[in-house]
Amino acid sequence: MTSRRIPLVAGNWKMNFDHLEATYFVQQLAWKLRDARFDYKRCEVALMPSFTSLRSVQVLVESDKLRIRYGAQAVSVTSQGAFTGDVSADMIAHLGCSYVIVGHSERRKYHPEDDANIVDQVRAVLAAGMQPILCVGESYEERRKGIELDFAVGQVHDVTRDLSDEEASRLIVAYEPVWAIGTGMVATPQSAQDAAKAIRDDLTATFSTTVGDTVRILYGGSVSSKNAVELIGEPDVDGFLIGGAALKVDELTKICRLTLEATA
Ligand code: 13P
Repeated sequence: MTSRRIPLVAGNWKMNFDHLEATYFVQQLAWKLRDARFDYKRCEVALMPSFTSLRSVQVLVESDKLRIRYGAQAVSVTSQGAFTGDVSADMIAHLGCSYVIVGHSERRKYHPEDDANIVDQVRAVLAAGMQPILCVGESYEERRKGIELDFAVGQVHDVTRDLSDEEASRLIVAYEPVWAIGTGMVATPQSAQDAAKAIRDDLTATFSTTVGDTVRILYGGSVSSKNAVELIGEPDVDGFLIGGAALKVDELTKICRLTLEATA
């Protein structure tokens, strides 16, 4: 990554950990990073727990003044009303969240989340003062056809093109090829870089050089301490969205430390 952007290591816990486990994990991570004299100013660390854990994480982070950030994994497109089971962006923002994951491939697969809905989620998150982590990435089928870059760029473009420059500059994009999620098959550093660069170039063309230079583009899909250094060495890869490895505190601590060292 280039030194202009601060790297972000974000753990997506998916549907794991109740609020007691979440609290214990955050404490352990904070201790381990403190022992390592981790410099949060040069590398952001964030966790995305379930809705049911957000309040517990907030209380811990605020009472102990921890530097770990946190966010939600999805959001309603409406602000309030008769939408049983939904959670609004304002509700999430009022819990001190910095981020909301939008359009994760598991949400696109198991819930009726199409592009129009994802546009509205992005807008809701931005309007509530948080940053959307917009997930895109091709399936094995698109990769087999050799259209993976167009596919990922198209997913970002279609969802973001009507934003203002100011809104677009607050986006975070996570390039997560679907075939790499939870499979142990990580993208090569070169293909992660190719996708990140193609997405960045499109943001620059659609908005401005400033937006292109500002937006952080994360890689996600089987990230571990074994592949993180090579991936973060690519100029357009600005951090990670991590699933399985973010459920193990020693492994996540290691990825945070390696990312910081590699971008120092
Ligand atoms: P894994 O790191 O388990 O492959 O999951 C990636 C992911 O989906 C993060 O959002």
